[in-house]
Amino acid sequence: MTLLQIMSEQAPETVRLRTDDLDVIRKELLRIGVRFERWHAARRLPAGTDDFTILKAYRSHIDRLSAEGGYRLVDIVRMTPTPADPGWPQRARAARETFLERHVHDDDVVRFFVAGAACFYLHVAGQVHAMVCTAGDLLCVPSRTAHWFDMGECPEFTVIRFFQKEDGWVSRHLPDSIAARFPTLDDLLATT
Ligand SMILES: [Fe+2]
Repeated sequence: MTLLQIMSEQAPETVRLRTDDLDVIRKELLRIGVRFERWHAARRLPAGTDDFTILKAYRSHIDRLSAEGGYRLVDIVRMTPTPADPGWPQRARAARETFLERHVHDDDVVRFFVAGAACFYLHVAGQVHAMVCTAGDLLCVPSRTAHWFDMGECPEFTVIRFFQKEDGWVSRHLPDSIAARFPTLDDLLATT
């Protein structure tokens, strides 16, 4: 479920807003300069659809956004659980931990969720906006916005990424322990 929970930076238990109303989410995110849209595919995309077909199904949205934001590079990232593989739990844990600390990028963070779910935590103006994205959600976070990302204990998603620069994914960590004080993706979804 797409969900926005806004919390005080000092006291994560102080929830200022929790909503799944897409229009409210769009307006709240706009107040901190973050764009949120819902996209619909031009055709049905069953699980396992290849990258070419996914990009084709969203081509009109991708072209419009790329022109507007100056995004020159588009790719697809997938996390697909493979429970039969004994290495999967460790791989999933390592992938999750990579993004759990607060950090910034010199490029915008622009992600479209084709499938699955994950949470972006945007640390702006004394508040943390936890945005749980699911299939159909586009999020555009301006460059140098402090954030972290939780893909949960069982990561599963397919995401289209947009970049202005080739090294746009490179992050700069902001050392502190703020992220650990906030509810995880699994916590947020457990209380729906
Ligand atoms: Fe990031």
